[in-house]
Amino acid sequence: MNELDMLQEILELKRKRKAIILAHNYQRDEVQDLADFTGDSLELSRTASAIECEVIVFCGVNFMAESAAILSPTKTVVLPEVEACCPMADMIQVERPRQMRAAFPGYAVQPSLVFPVEFSLKDLKKRYPGVPVVSYVNTTAEVKAHSDICCTSANVVKVVESLPGDEVICVPDRNLAMWAQKNTQKKVIAWDGFCHVHDRVRKEDALKAKNEHPGALLMAHPECRMEVLEVADHVTSTSGMLRFAKNSPHTEFIVGTELGLMHRLRKDNPEKIFYPLRKDMICPNMKKTTLKSVYLALKELKTIVSVPEEIRIPAKRALDRMLAI
Ligand code: 13P
Ligand code: SF4
Repeated sequence: MNELDMLQEILELKRKRKAIILAHNYQRDEVQDLADFTGDSLELSRTASAIECEVIVFCGVNFMAESAAILSPTKTVVLPEVEACCPMADMIQVERPRQMRAAFPGYAVQPSLVFPVEFSLKDLKKRYPGVPVVSYVNTTAEVKAHSDICCTSANVVKVVESLPGDEVICVPDRNLAMWAQKNTQKKVIAWDGFCHVHDRVRKEDALKAKNEHPGALLMAHPECRMEVLEVADHVTSTSGMLRFAKNSPHTEFIVGTELGLMHRLRKDNPEKIFYPLRKDMICPNMKKTTLKSVYLALKELKTIVSVPEEIRIPAKRALDRMLAI
């Protein structure tokens, strides 16, 4: 089947199944163009909980589809590529410790506020009894179920500030936790997880890009290291970057996040210029979904993502608390 026929089939199947296609800002260009809604994690969670449809095709990674299934249990949520996962989300588990150093050669432990990774979330909670747990949406449903509230890169500071007491636990992204720490008076107890796409960027990369494009503003995602965030002109989520670039009088930007965002940035701002912070900021899991996988997902309703009620209900509580902020 050629691409045009496939697009036609997708539209027909979508209508038949009363389906909606959601796509994260990091998806392939053609998948973004096909979607009914594109957005960051927060926008997609909101859309998944509010949208009227029978089927949600979630073009993203597994924790995102899982969040949609948690929020909308009466809808059928399908993840076109079952192996599209987020390695960072798998860096924390409720019970079982993770041996990250084995899985990520070259990985080095970060400074003092970060908790060693060989512990489980339960161990961490035992060590800091009564301290509220904020879990990034990039976590499994089970971790969300054992958290007080969720957050995304768009609202982490607001979420941390909304909690009682002087301390919060923030898992699993050490960089996001450090960003929250920089913007709050509370003590943030961080986990030692990271996104391999953002964490690989160093200060030298940022300075080199700024040097090559002296007129450009550097936008960086808070999953980047603090040394990068410190030299950035604006730190925000993916959709925050879309808004910032659109509203700014500046015409040149260095983009410090996964390269899938370039598509919307360029589409929304044809007169502006966008440079990648690093050309290898590509998330292989986000790129697994193709037009063909969307077509098959709709045709065969695969793979359906569901969460057992005993996990879904407490996980939903944590997501609802975030959405209420
Ligand atoms: P946002 O789109 O929420 O900024 O998240 C980035 C991300 O890495 C999602 O996996
Ligand atoms: Fe996970 Fe990073 Fe990929 Fe986002 S970009 S899905 S955080 S690995």
